[in-house]
Amino acid sequence: MKHLFLIGFMGAGKTSVSQALGKALGWKVVEMDQHISAQEGMSVSDIFAQKGEPYFRACETALLESFAQSEPCVVSCGGGVPMREENVAAMKRSGTVVLLTARPEVILERVKDDHSRPLLEGHKDIPYITSLMEQRRPKYEAAADLVVDTSDISVEEVCQEILRQTQE
Ligand code: S3P
Repeated sequence: MKHLFLIGFMGAGKTSVSQALGKALGWKVVEMDQHISAQEGMSVSDIFAQKGEPYFRACETALLESFAQSEPCVVSCGGGVPMREENVAAMKRSGTVVLLTARPEVILERVKDDHSRPLLEGHKDIPYITSLMEQRRPKYEAAADLVVDTSDISVEEVCQEILRQTQE
């Protein structure tokens, strides 16, 4: 199965781009955060607060492994997914990994009014975003088959670029 996995920092555009890709390809779209939240019957913030981050990370790994059996789909991964090697291995086994990036100022603008991301609550500033992004960058880049910077182009343009690079 050749799924498309979209990875990248919070606010990089994974959710909107995966919707556009799903439409263009006629594939099912799986938003990992939403899937886990529905499965657990609570928001991602509540899972972090009540069950702890390691529990959430285990749900992510189990969900990724389940894609080995499914029809091709576009998967919008949570921003922390590529931090675990087993997750990267599971994605590589069953699809193509697309890294979406954006400059810290663009990320801040996109996430500033949202309160669904526990890791950013109380840290919505450029130094924090830059430092977490830099800390994660090596793993994001190592996992990626292709990279698209979403800072200055529209969702449709990002989508076209991904299709161009994966279908050539
Ligand atoms: C996280 C990103 C979030 C969500 C959780 C943790 C992370 O997903 O999985 O809050 O560690 O970067 P999005 O990247 O879809 O916001």
